[in-house]
Amino acid sequence: MGLNTTKIRQDFPLLHNQKKPSVYLDSACMSLKPMPVIEKMNEYYKEYPACAGRSHHRLGKRASEEYDCARVMVKKFINARAEQEIIFTRNATEGFNLVAHSLDYDVVITSDKEHNSNLVPWIVEKQEKGIVHEVISTEQGFDLAQFTALLQKHKNKKILVSIVHTSNMDGTTNPVKEIIKLAHEYDATVMIDGAQSVPHKPIDVKKLDADLLAFSGHKMLGPTGTGVLYGKSEILEKLKTYNVGGDTVDDTFYDKAVFTKIPARFEAGLQDYAGFIGLGAAIEYLSKYIDDIEDHDRELNRIMTDGLKNDIDILGPPDATSRSSILSFNPKNRMDYHEVAMLLDSYANIAIRSGRHCVHSWFNARRIGGSARASVYLYNTVEEAKLFVEKTKEVLKMK
Ligand code: ALA
Repeated sequence: MGLNTTKIRQDFPLLHNQKKPSVYLDSACMSLKPMPVIEKMNEYYKEYPACAGRSHHRLGKRASEEYDCARVMVKKFINARAEQEIIFTRNATEGFNLVAHSLDYDVVITSDKEHNSNLVPWIVEKQEKGIVHEVISTEQGFDLAQFTALLQKHKNKKILVSIVHTSNMDGTTNPVKEIIKLAHEYDATVMIDGAQSVPHKPIDVKKLDADLLAFSGHKMLGPTGTGVLYGKSEILEKLKTYNVGGDTVDDTFYDKAVFTKIPARFEAGLQDYAGFIGLGAAIEYLSKYIDDIEDHDRELNRIMTDGLKNDIDILGPPDATSRSSILSFNPKNRMDYHEVAMLLDSYANIAIRSGRHCVHSWFNARRIGGSARASVYLYNTVEEAKLFVEKTKEVLKMK
């Protein structure tokens, strides 16, 4: 049906409250927040700013209801089997750290294009516990032959496969359904980094048969400091405790703790109630549009790509439809990527990101310093994509 961006933009204060609104093309880093999310968080602070899950007064009960409701929203959004399979975290990164520390595995297989959140925890575990870390090439697309060979090589060990779904660096998407199916033939556990896919298209963990999935609230219209670790309950039940304290236990003695059920066992201390209640509102909002976002992303990316293809070298495949919402590039005239971003901001009020996008390892292995990256979302328009092309051409002439 297509997205009604005129209507959608009315919900985002940054896009209509200023004389000259920013053209915001940095949603792969941080999405904007619509009013229903901001209002829902304010509602918590104004009307029931109490502890959830503890206090039995009316304010506490209301906070508990709203907090529980947010978990149900997340469960439905990704089609998990039960609320217990949803652990609230601070971000996707925290989910990876929890799994890296707490799952029982000998070998982890990642791709060569992982965000630091799905790389650094394995480096630490390799140094501290001697786990084996294998890296699959994605140079010509995810190398399924190399993947099969690695599964075969380690078939007598406990294997964890931890793979990015859609890359925040170049927007390419890995065939996770195929990866999961293949991995399960070797009894491997599969964790998916959904930070860039969950905000942009419907994800059904049952259909994918994903064992674990981590994503962040701040890239899907939700508050900063909110994230989710989904896991099949039989896997979460087996995770070792990690961050412990209040709310993670049913009982304690001076020398013993009796740990409680999932997911509370992994949610230590007072939580960001306003944040997760806001995340529930973000999911309610996003659910109205999620079926149409991917096509919208592709349309805008095609306009940006076609308009600039003679002026830039693109990271990833030339075809925009294979790069989701992301155009990552370096100018052919060798203007520095940071300079492109700074000039677009100061000269045209267009916000893009530049640098290595937390995927330093990929850039270092190829001796590429970084890139400029424009990323679109449901509130961006065709006019903005065209303006980005026009202003980038003008900026490149400044060299
Ligand atoms: N992962 C975030 C980005 O890609 C920080 O910009």
